[in-house]
Amino acid sequence: MTPAYKILAVTRRERINRDYHVIGLREPELAAKCQPGMFFELKAGTAGQDRKLFKPVSVYGAAEAEISFLIKVVGSGTKALSELAIGDPVKLTGPLGNGFPMIRDSNVLLVSGGVGYPPLAYLREALSSGNRITFLHGGACADDVFPCDRVYTLDGSCGQKGLVTRDVKDLIIEAKIDIVYSCGPIPMLKALAEIVAPLPHHVSMEAYMACGVGVCHGCAVPVGDAYLRVCADGPIFNAAEVCWGEL
Ligand SMILES: Cc1cc2nc3c(=O)[nH]c(=O)nc-3n(C[C@H](O)[C@H](O)[C@H](O)COP(=O)(O)OP(=O)(O)OC[C@H]3O[C@@H](n4cnc5c(N)ncnc54)[C@H](O)[C@@H]3O)c2cc1C
Ligand code: FES
Repeated sequence: MTPAYKILAVTRRERINRDYHVIGLREPELAAKCQPGMFFELKAGTAGQDRKLFKPVSVYGAAEAEISFLIKVVGSGTKALSELAIGDPVKLTGPLGNGFPMIRDSNVLLVSGGVGYPPLAYLREALSSGNRITFLHGGACADDVFPCDRVYTLDGSCGQKGLVTRDVKDLIIEAKIDIVYSCGPIPMLKALAEIVAPLPHHVSMEAYMACGVGVCHGCAVPVGDAYLRVCADGPIFNAAEVCWGEL
């Protein structure tokens, strides 16, 4: 079964650095449905992409009827998306997924790694009035990090040297953190889940997706006593329910 998709023309494109690009697509009805944590399945509608799978990409922003995506080039699908010009077609399905639960009057800690940044940047915007937010972001090097309260790089080329999880334990006490949201590679999420427990912690899980709409079960992860689909049951899960030892 091929899910129904739309075709939209690129309305904005911006190169952030060597690996990251922003593309914008204007569609008021879809933009109004977006919530932080949701994603779209995207595919460049250009020659050479026809046989390729759609790629999951988080909503980076949805303002004034335009949905934006911050995309890192890792393989052929994201490379084709990064090379689109204004007016070029994009095939898309979404918004998909469950989105982050919203809160108010809380001390919030956001922790992202690499391409985990876009959904948390959108969440920061949505939570900014009514909460006190501390946003930590970590990446491999200066080209892998973005503006936030504290930046960590593995090679020390920007911000503090080390893993993004390095100071979390102390920060939770100093900033009297009530709740944590995270998105990034599985080893980072796993380490964070251990440090953060028993605080409420919502994680956005990564999985390599095929259908993106709950049909193939290719993206299933162990949660509680079941295998849940990242695309249709997530991508946001309660960190306390994820079976980290099985990942
Ligand atoms: C819910 C969700 C939201 C995402 N949001 C964003 C986003 O906002 N911005 C962004 O840049 N990327 C995001 N990603 C990751 C993005 O989907 C992948 O980078 C993309 O699918 C890679 O496709 P490709 O054709 O470029 O590379 P491929 O040729 O498919 O893969 C290149 C290499 O990377 C590995 N790989 C690719 N994707 C994954 C993965 N998800 N997990 C483990 N290994 C992988 C492959 O095994 C291969 O070795 C998200 C992923 C998920 C699941
Ligand atoms: S990717 Fe097919 S069920 Fe999730």
